[in-house]
Amino acid sequence: MKKQYLLTPGPTPIPPEVALKEALPILHHRTNEFAAIYKDVAEGLQYVFQTKNEVYTIAGSGTAAMEAAVVNVVSAGDKVIVASCGNFGDRWVKIAQSYGANVVQASVPWGNVVKPAEIEKALKENPDAKAVYTTFTETSTGVVNDIKAIGEIVSKTDAVFIVDAVSGLVGQEFKTDDWNVDIAVSGSQKGLMLAPGLSFITLSEKAWKAVENSKAPKFYLDIKKYKKSYATNETPFTPPVTLIVSLQESLKVIKEKGLENLWSEYKLLAKAARAGMKALGLELFGEIPCEVVTSAKAPEGIGGKIVKTLREKYGVSIAGGQGDLKGKIIRFAHMGFIGKADLLVGFACLEMVLTELGVQIEKGKGVAAAEEALLNG
Ligand SMILES: Cc1ncc(COP(=O)(O)O)c(C=O)c1O
Repeated sequence: MKKQYLLTPGPTPIPPEVALKEALPILHHRTNEFAAIYKDVAEGLQYVFQTKNEVYTIAGSGTAAMEAAVVNVVSAGDKVIVASCGNFGDRWVKIAQSYGANVVQASVPWGNVVKPAEIEKALKENPDAKAVYTTFTETSTGVVNDIKAIGEIVSKTDAVFIVDAVSGLVGQEFKTDDWNVDIAVSGSQKGLMLAPGLSFITLSEKAWKAVENSKAPKFYLDIKKYKKSYATNETPFTPPVTLIVSLQESLKVIKEKGLENLWSEYKLLAKAARAGMKALGLELFGEIPCEVVTSAKAPEGIGGKIVKTLREKYGVSIAGGQGDLKGKIIRFAHMGFIGKADLLVGFACLEMVLTELGVQIEKGKGVAAAEEALLNG
């Protein structure tokens, strides 16, 4: 048996009170008992998304809600703008193209952030674009995009603004309504501190108008079905009852703590993680780092080995790079049920692994820098 530390950008560790709910007997989902839970969950989701609009729960990983945000908005041949800055932004391109959308890219190289001015330009050049798709925190690189600025630009056009907040929700300030986000999507296994398996989507009035015109084929992800069932506190298909019961508990934990307090805590953890990386001589990766995952360049040729050794020898899971960044960066997450002590353990083990792999570092320096940042707030 080995003690495990999950410092990956999803799944994340979950609080014990949330995990315990998963052991309760299964409820039937067409009952008043379940409806009361679902209603409570729906209200809690409105709080975390910071929206007055309905938030629908779909059984499936975050990508299910991303696909729902495409099939319910586009028709084959429609023009859409995708502003990608990493693997998950590229996923919007792939999903949109698989439904026959004409994708105009306002993308930037991985590691950079999306430029609001580029989106403005793309919208001027493509006034017929039906939607603009982008990512809040791009987990594959560790950057955060200025959703507020982009939202302001898109709100002045007829295009619907659609944001992947799968990894950033709860972990970093995100305001669906105030930032003019028409469709926001997320998933259960990150900031919401829950097991994987649920995804979420919320739509503005402007988005609903696009839904009325969308002709892409859909059945399970037909959002109108979710809206209809929502009116009676139900889901259109059998929901993962266990996950929804535990979601009620995680939302309670989040509400008790307060979103603003959580945002500040993750901000501090991010600051400490960045200080730790720098102190170890690891150059930070990404133009504007987000607050849920810290990326740093790995010493030449050992990115994969760092991740593997940490996990196999010390039970500490972090993430490596994806796509072209495979082996080149390491990603150390601070999202979900993660505290200061977890971060320090992660850094202590990272120092041991770097030393074992022959990297010249001064042991204790990363931990000390992280401690300093944590102590100074
Ligand atoms: C930003 C972002 N978008 C989308 C996804 C896809 O979510 P899932 O793997 O739950 O389908 C992830 C998961 O890592 C993510 O971090």
